[in-house]
Amino acid sequence: MTESKTILRALAGETQAVPPIWMMRQAGRYLPEYKATRAQAGDFLSLCYNPELACEVTLQPIRRYGFDAAILFADILLVPQALGADLWFVTGEGPRLSTVTTQADFDKLGPVEDIHETLSPIYQTVRLLTKALPRETTLIGFAGAPWTVATYMIAGKGTKDQGPAHALKAGDVALFEALLERITLATIEYLSAQIDAGAEVIKIFDSWAGSLKGTDFDRYSLEPARQITAALKARHPGIPIIGFPREAGEKYIGFAKATGVDCVALDNSVAPDWAAAHVQVDGCVQGNLASHHMVTGGQPLVDETRAIVKAFSKGPHIFNLGHGITPDADPDNVQRMIDTVREG
Ligand code: CP3
Repeated sequence: MTESKTILRALAGETQAVPPIWMMRQAGRYLPEYKATRAQAGDFLSLCYNPELACEVTLQPIRRYGFDAAILFADILLVPQALGADLWFVTGEGPRLSTVTTQADFDKLGPVEDIHETLSPIYQTVRLLTKALPRETTLIGFAGAPWTVATYMIAGKGTKDQGPAHALKAGDVALFEALLERITLATIEYLSAQIDAGAEVIKIFDSWAGSLKGTDFDRYSLEPARQITAALKARHPGIPIIGFPREAGEKYIGFAKATGVDCVALDNSVAPDWAAAHVQVDGCVQGNLASHHMVTGGQPLVDETRAIVKAFSKGPHIFNLGHGITPDADPDNVQRMIDTVREG
């Protein structure tokens, strides 16, 4: 049977006249309907663990805009929580977690087999979505990459330069690597369960890959992505995987070949023409409009959107932002971006 879903066709390597489109953080605070459902849930984590409401917010941007893909509503920090870390969100500041900086902290984490106890509502959200989504919409499941998740577990919060994680790597590499391995194994189980529940594509978010340099990048971004990809493809032959080593720069070159991912998501610090020549040569790419255009709009939004579509028009491409849309974005600018991509 010929594949009809445009996202799956791009991931299979097909060049399309109009690239399919979805948007990182498409279910989020820039949408009034999201804020209303979040208020109904009480708080962000209660929303993540409520399958009916998480399904509802996943569907909101599909209803409003008709994106080609829906991304499961959840968070990368649910995996540390399922491993036993305390997790809470401070309004206006972001996530907070109990920290892992010593062997004693590490020993308090639970075994990988136990994660499903916490994460089963997420699988239920996926099952609800498989029934609720329009037939042409692809369902993307996701997790954070081990390095990015570790940076939050070690620091207990988001950090500008990932200093605490780099310090643990320098000070106790055995403990650092044991933590990365635990996260890697948990991530494989978590993503595998999402696929069993109906996720059609998996995306691995390595938001802080850019702070790993040289062989550190190969060991701690590339290698875990390779392990997760190999394990998922062995268990679920043909499952397409998108890797997002954000701000990898030159290290985007060869990332797909080295890890086995089907698509590399690009942040907006790389020039589309450069990425077409050096990254898209190996297969599908995703990206990479700067998310500030969703705030600022106007002719620059249209011009930049057209330039990205044109630069990637000779190979498989999924249009997206270079990072998540921000809460101050104007929903009308999202429509303008979609209209520009689809004007043909
Ligand atoms: O993209 C989507 O629409 C799917 C859902 C999704 C969320 N987070 C929902 C969310 C996805 C894929 C993520 C990934 C995520 N979460 C990443 C990787 C991608 C990236 O942005 O770099 C990271 C680093 C996190 C951790 C996280 N979650 C942070 C740092 C924050 C606070 C910052 C913020 O935007 O408030 C969150 C909260 C979060 N995750 C929100 C949403 C919609 C906002 C929570 C709210 O409603 O108040």
